[in-house]
Amino acid sequence: MELLPSRASARSDALVIFRPPGSKDLGRLPVGDRALRRAAAAAAKEFHGERGETLLLHGGAGGRRLLLAGTGGDQEPETLRQAAAAAARALDARRLRSATFLVPPGGSTEERAGAIAEGVGLALYRFDRLQRKKRPRGLSRALFAAESGEPRELPAAVRRAAVLVDAVSFARDLGNLPPNMATPSFLAAEARKMAGRGVRVRVHDRAAIRRLRMGAFAAVAQGSETEPRLIEMHYRAPGSRGRRVALVGKGVTFDTGGISIKPSQSMEEMKFDMCGAAAVLAAMRAVKALRPRLDLSVYVPAADNMPSGSAYRPGDIVRARDGTTIEVISTDAEGRMLLCDTLAYAAERKPDCMIDLATLTGACVVALGDAAAGLFGNDRKLVGELERAGQASAEGVWPMPILPPHEKQIQSPYADLKNSGGRNAGACTAAAFLKHFVGSTPWAHLDIAGTAWGDRDEGTRRKGATGYGVRLLVAFLLARAGAKR
Ligand code: BES
Ligand code: MN
Ligand code: ZN
Repeated sequence: MELLPSRASARSDALVIFRPPGSKDLGRLPVGDRALRRAAAAAAKEFHGERGETLLLHGGAGGRRLLLAGTGGDQEPETLRQAAAAAARALDARRLRSATFLVPPGGSTEERAGAIAEGVGLALYRFDRLQRKKRPRGLSRALFAAESGEPRELPAAVRRAAVLVDAVSFARDLGNLPPNMATPSFLAAEARKMAGRGVRVRVHDRAAIRRLRMGAFAAVAQGSETEPRLIEMHYRAPGSRGRRVALVGKGVTFDTGGISIKPSQSMEEMKFDMCGAAAVLAAMRAVKALRPRLDLSVYVPAADNMPSGSAYRPGDIVRARDGTTIEVISTDAEGRMLLCDTLAYAAERKPDCMIDLATLTGACVVALGDAAAGLFGNDRKLVGELERAGQASAEGVWPMPILPPHEKQIQSPYADLKNSGGRNAGACTAAAFLKHFVGSTPWAHLDIAGTAWGDRDEGTRRKGATGYGVRLLVAFLLARAGAKR
């Protein structure tokens, strides 16, 4: 899928115009082609401007079409993003190859053009590399131009959107790939491919994870013959002092629950338990392309959680890298086990802040569904920045608390901590567990269990991995770097 800045006059199979309900100008739309203008005037009564509505009109010179796309009431970037997604789907279904999307006037052209281009690219994502029968080829070239004039900000906005779509698609691919293919060493190989041009990559194997005294991470990995990996990536732009950010992503490439085994119903979905890892790897991919003034480190602990004769057990007590002893209550609370060692390790470099993304708890799905990720942290300012990034990217986050009773719930009579606080406040006790390992580093945790994948095929979403978090993280990082967004 090509997403390119262009001009309203560029040649393509279709022109796309966005309009809200009650638009009075359908009789005289700013399209150069007189026949199309007349077609729109004639069809004005049939187009209501509802969000997601599309109307395809024929009769332009050289067979060109006009697609009217409804936006519904407001003209917020997210509204345009979803309207553009609906328009792209309509053109794709009719197998039109190219289209010019006209950014409506008003608001910020930069935001609007970016949102429309993202909507098109995200909606047309497909994961068919493992299927012999491909879907027929549809829209493959999308051009973006302003309805009037040639605003200077538009080309950069479209190029940034193309980078974001590429990164989100990369994260979706990693999530959608099956657990026999998207193994820890596969993720490491994907990270290594990103090395160069300012990005360094280090990968630690099982023996190195043990040598690093990551006893909690090693305990999870010991039940599987699939080799674990700790992936480390570092990007550094000159002049990035005071902008040192560390991202950590949960990379459980398959979560059976281990000895505390999960029910088999929908267990195949636990291939998505590495979507946090996918999001932070994809954020690094976008950063490499956009080159913001930042010092960014990405850490991914990757392992399978399996039951076997060598698996860790409920009742085991293991020692984490920072010396904390952990009593294992449930081997299914494995995410916090890999994350605690990795957070402690990342904190040793003294970053200015640290953010982890993890499909951590079913409790978070119960609490928030797919409406937002649970946002926890130990630093008001960082949490505020992530809330603003959530608004800017329309990737929802919702603040959740870590209260003293939650910290008490994970005290163990035999060790320093236990890895499960039981059912009540499951998302909060998981966050409280992680908090123990970050020390005084400003830290935020996003529980993405409800947002990382879904079965809705609608708007910018496709069934399977959503790529949630990539656009949110990039919005956060660009704001930190002082770049515009
Ligand atoms: N990966 C799961 C969380 C999960 C479950 C995400 C369902 C998305 C959908 C995690 O490793 C897990 O199993 N968590 C347990 C924790 C419990 C044992 C304390 C849970 O949520 O039940
Ligand atoms: Mn689990
Ligand atoms: Zn898990």
